[in-house]
Amino acid sequence: MSEPLRSVPQDGAATSRRTFLKTSTAAVAGGALAASLASRGVVHAAGDDTLKVALIGCGGRGSGAARNAVNADPNVKLTALCDIFPDKVELAKNTLSRALGDKYAVADDHCFSDFDGYKRVMETDVDVVLLCTPPHFRPEQLKAAVAAGKHIFCEKPIATDGPGVRSVLETSEEARKKGLSLVSGLCWRYDYGVRETMDRIKNGAIGDIVTTQENYLTSTLWHRGRKPEWSEMEYQIRNWLYFTWLSGDHIVEQFIHSLDKTMWLMNDEPPLRCFGLGGRQVRTGEEYGNAYDHFAVCYEWANGFKSFAYTRQMDGCINDVEDYVHGTKGRARVLGHSIEGETSWQYPVEQKRKNPSMYDIEHLELFAGIRSGNALNNGVYMSYSTLLAIMGREACYTGETITWDKAMKSEVKLGPDSYAWGEAPKPVVATPGKTKFA
Ligand SMILES: NC(=O)c1ccc[n+]([C@@H]2O[C@H](COP(=O)([O-])OP(=O)(O)OC[C@H]3O[C@@H](n4cnc5c(N)ncnc54)[C@H](O)[C@@H]3O)[C@@H](O)[C@H]2O)c1
Repeated sequence: MSEPLRSVPQDGAATSRRTFLKTSTAAVAGGALAASLASRGVVHAAGDDTLKVALIGCGGRGSGAARNAVNADPNVKLTALCDIFPDKVELAKNTLSRALGDKYAVADDHCFSDFDGYKRVMETDVDVVLLCTPPHFRPEQLKAAVAAGKHIFCEKPIATDGPGVRSVLETSEEARKKGLSLVSGLCWRYDYGVRETMDRIKNGAIGDIVTTQENYLTSTLWHRGRKPEWSEMEYQIRNWLYFTWLSGDHIVEQFIHSLDKTMWLMNDEPPLRCFGLGGRQVRTGEEYGNAYDHFAVCYEWANGFKSFAYTRQMDGCINDVEDYVHGTKGRARVLGHSIEGETSWQYPVEQKRKNPSMYDIEHLELFAGIRSGNALNNGVYMSYSTLLAIMGREACYTGETITWDKAMKSEVKLGPDSYAWGEAPKPVVATPGKTKFA
């Protein structure tokens, strides 16, 4: 998965400190990461080897990521906060200052809000940024972070449209050239049990892989209502899940976790094409913007491999979140960590209980990479898996076959040309057979 990269010296004022960090700190070896979480006593030389972290997007996942970051390394401090809404910054100040203890070191002049708050973060001396806003904003924020020489934890998905994916591919390459770490929030790639299950499947435990069936059948998520004082833009950003320009719709925002596992099995080789069905049967009200409530997509690869992918957000129906992999000599359940083949296997439950959470492992590996100078770069797979989800969405929205090439070259740019508190894009629910994808 993550490719170790050669370390490249940084420009500017941060250079000496980063160089010092690399040379003065005991590198945390990959295999010892779980142990390092428990024993926070990694040796540090005298001097300032603190890694300073900024959180951008102080919501549920961002607050969790801030905790994961400070858990990951004995010498990490949260020093900046940014959210588009000042009230979310205030909330994060209260909860994170209590939760992080002396690892919380955010001064008032390091709290930023509004559309361009992230630009102010990039002007500070933070070493690492945690990008945890709704996905629409990711390409621009990622670009700014790499331009400013920051290491990055980047939540999934990384964009909601083709131009955004292309931008992130370019930025990821720039990060690679600069030796900056870029770790993706596609968290299952960091789960020890899932990694071992995937390794066994790829090493032939079920013979040749023929199909995957991806299920993400789940209930509904939050809705934050509407307040009279909110502009339409504020309303949409606060309820970003239901607006395709902001979230990509739930096939992109949530189902990407499952689609990403199929991409992982395919060694991140893109499919040729897909077709799909979808719509909104239950969440039909205006409050659900233009989001569908179900999608079913069939993806096809050049070697004949197919993935049948189903996602639904509805209450009162059966729920099932699992990756079923069918091979010529058996089958596997990736999240169940189990294989039924010529030799059946189950990941040990006891071991699973002892493992750090995949969210902690993401940050353990991110900070170990920064400390050792072996930067991680998950840029290509996080972009490809996002595009896989986008092409599936467009196949369902249009009723057409969508090829990978068409999705990758698409000029459809979702969202406004510039941001201001006031009007917002009018949500139009896609109608298969009528809606077009350019
Ligand atoms: N890996 C996972 O398991 C996982 C789980 C949950 C969410 N996520 C991802 O994390 C991201 C955030 O999700 P969440 O559940 O925390 O949502 P959330 O709504 O709780 O938090 C998002 C925060 O970003 C802020 N924000 C919006 N636009 C912004 C901007 N332009 N600049 C700065 N801040 C902005 C919002 O005000 C909000 O506080 C999403 O991409 C989501 O898909 C990943």
